[in-house]
Amino acid sequence: MPLPLRVALLLLGLAARCRSDAAPPTIDVNLDDDPRVRWAPLFQVFDTDFLKRTTREMIDASIPKWIHEALISVMKVSVPFILPEPYGEELRCMSPHFGTNLSDIVMLNFAYEANAYCTSIVAQDKHGNVYHGRNLDYRYPTMRKLTVNVNFWKNGKIAYTGTTFAGYVGLWTGQSPYKFTFSGDQRGKHHWWDLWKTIVSAFLMNRSPVSWLARETLEEAEDFQDAVLRLSKIPIMAEVYYIVGGARAGEGAVITRNRAGPADIWPLEALSGGWFRIETNFDHWLPNPGKDERREAAEKAMNATGQEHVNMDSLFQVLSLFPVCNRKTVYTTTMSAASPENYTSLVRSPACRVTRRPEVLPAVGKVERVSQFFTP
Ligand SMILES: *[C@@H]1O[C@H](CO)[C@@H](O)[C@H](O)[C@H]1NC(C)=O
Ligand SMILES: *[C@@H]1O[C@H](CO)[C@@H](O)[C@H](O)[C@H]1NC(C)=O
Ligand SMILES: *[C@@H]1O[C@H](CO)[C@@H](O)[C@H](O)[C@H]1NC(C)=O
Repeated sequence: MPLPLRVALLLLGLAARCRSDAAPPTIDVNLDDDPRVRWAPLFQVFDTDFLKRTTREMIDASIPKWIHEALISVMKVSVPFILPEPYGEELRCMSPHFGTNLSDIVMLNFAYEANAYCTSIVAQDKHGNVYHGRNLDYRYPTMRKLTVNVNFWKNGKIAYTGTTFAGYVGLWTGQSPYKFTFSGDQRGKHHWWDLWKTIVSAFLMNRSPVSWLARETLEEAEDFQDAVLRLSKIPIMAEVYYIVGGARAGEGAVITRNRAGPADIWPLEALSGGWFRIETNFDHWLPNPGKDERREAAEKAMNATGQEHVNMDSLFQVLSLFPVCNRKTVYTTTMSAASPENYTSLVRSPACRVTRRPEVLPAVGKVERVSQFFTP
């Protein structure tokens, strides 16, 4: 190939990459700090005017006006008393930065709990390494600009890492270093007219939002097995799929959750052919109910990849194929509990073209810098 053409193609490739995927910002939240100040780093990274504008847009787009009004009166009385800590304090002190009061930001945190369509894959290679990847699909494109990686610190170490949205205190994606990785996928349809029931039942019946239980599990679980137990049995406010990967061979499972407890636990069985498990938003034992072809496409791509070639890069490729990656895909995360320094989240372009996972990411540079603080 003549040199100018090669250069042109190279430049084209670079341009495509710049336009497509981008590393979200990474912030450090110190859990040893008071909940009232620990999210301050967020406001060094995100412009407050931007946050206020998008928060208003999100509330208008996701919560109908009459529900909003009704909830405000319910919450005026109850929220200050029933919000569990540390979330209550964290949200209370963050809300002025979003131009809202407490009840608005609480509502937004709950509105995000619905409509999270996702694909999660946990897989084991021939050497027993476990990899975990996820796409988070969401119907609001604004979420791309709110995506943020958070390192949660405790006692001078990174206790856990997650990817979330500015103002959202729960986690749908995260990793507890050398212990386990986690992702959550929505189960069933949630409707905005259920929102008030969800919020009231959550607090009155002492049920956690699914993303708060995830954060607590990342913080407290001793290992993969402990994480699976907690994520299986602790009551939650909505049905969900919890996907968990461990640091050792055989440690991987999809937990199908009812509100009160597990409906099913589907582990990796690498010795008998089950070297990967894929969960989208349907029960894995049921045929695909609709026209949604993400699960079949991902399964076909994993079959084509093969157990001998599965790694974080090939998993990223599978998660980049249409329709697994689609115009609603906000971000893709690849992770492996045994190599916590390789945790990578990328914000996807609406076009979601297939790209190689970039070798060097600005935000990952930061994780590298602190990788000494991951201790087995
Ligand atoms: C919160 O703000 C809304 C306006 O955005 C207002 O109508 C409502 O009364 C406020 N709620 C509380 C609890 O102060
Ligand atoms: C993937 O391979 C398994 C085992 O060979 C097979 O049962 C399954 O149908 C394949 N899936 C697709 C979508 O091709
Ligand atoms: C993690 O990243 C390092 C450096 O890029 C690489 O050598 C290693 O193979 C990666 N580990 C996994 C599990 O992908």
